[in-house]
Formats: sequence, structure tokens, C-alpha cells
Amino acid sequence: MKRIAVLNGPNLDRLGKRQPELYGSQTLEDLENQLQAAFTDVDFMFFQSNHEGALVSKISKLADEGCDGIVFNPAAYSHTSIALRDALGGAKIPTIEVHISNVHKRERFRHHSHTANESIGVIAGLGFKGYHYAVQHLIELS
Ligand code: DQA
Repeated sequence: MKRIAVLNGPNLDRLGKRQPELYGSQTLEDLENQLQAAFTDVDFMFFQSNHEGALVSKISKLADEGCDGIVFNPAAYSHTSIALRDALGGAKIPTIEVHISNVHKRERFRHHSHTANESIGVIAGLGFKGYHYAVQHLIELS
């Protein structure tokens, strides 16, 4: 059974309430339930934090415990966090970065992602479907 972590960064605990025109009307709990229902043979680990250090520590812990892949939406930390980039680089766990919105159609500061450099690939703008495609890809990797 594949062990896949789905990590979400700051403000994504407010999905459903926060800017629904950008992020939709479904909640983080809806997303996690949908993934669990779609991939019954995956052992998921869901984690959301508004704190950079908590996400760094979680990635290090996953590296020590063993994890087959990470689906990661670092949210605003994508654009700012060298600490998260270093954590991913050190963990060496196949990671796919997901953004619900198309960051390339938005403000310029969202066009660059530090964390994307340590990811296999990036999916942006496909809503919750991006998480599904990322999980599917990680399953097919090995
Ligand atoms: C986001 C895009 C980021 O630029 C933003 O800071 C977020 C969410 C997305 O999923 O589209 O919080 O990662």
C-alpha cells in the first residue's frame, strides 16, 4: 500500500470561505474525503498548517518515517520559503506541487515558486482535480 502525504500550507484551512471565486466553495475536509474515496488503496496522511516551521518539521518527519510521495500545496510559502525548499531537498521524497488557482494568471509575485524546484512537477489552475492527478501520478511512479 502506497503511503502518500497531502500537505497544505497557510490559509488553506479556510477553503470554502476564503475567496471562493479563486478557490471554490468546497472545504479542505471535502478535499480530503474526496481523495480518500477516490483512492481506497492509498494510505493517506493529511496535514495542514499555517506555520512554516510546522511544515518543515512534518516533511523531515515524513523522510524519517518513510513516505512514497508528497502532494504539496505550500500556498503563499511557495513564493517565499527557502526553508521549505531545503526541507524537500533534504527529504528526497517524490513531490508534486499543486496550486488550486492558476498562479501564472495572477500577480507577478505568484509566478515564482521556490518549492517547485524540488518537485517532480507542478499542477496549477485545475482546482481540486490537481490533487487527484498528482496522487495518480505518484501511484504510477513505481
Ligand atoms: C495557492 C496560490 C498561492 O499563490 C496562494 O498564496 C495560496 C493558494 C493556490 O492553491 O492557488 O494561498 O497556492
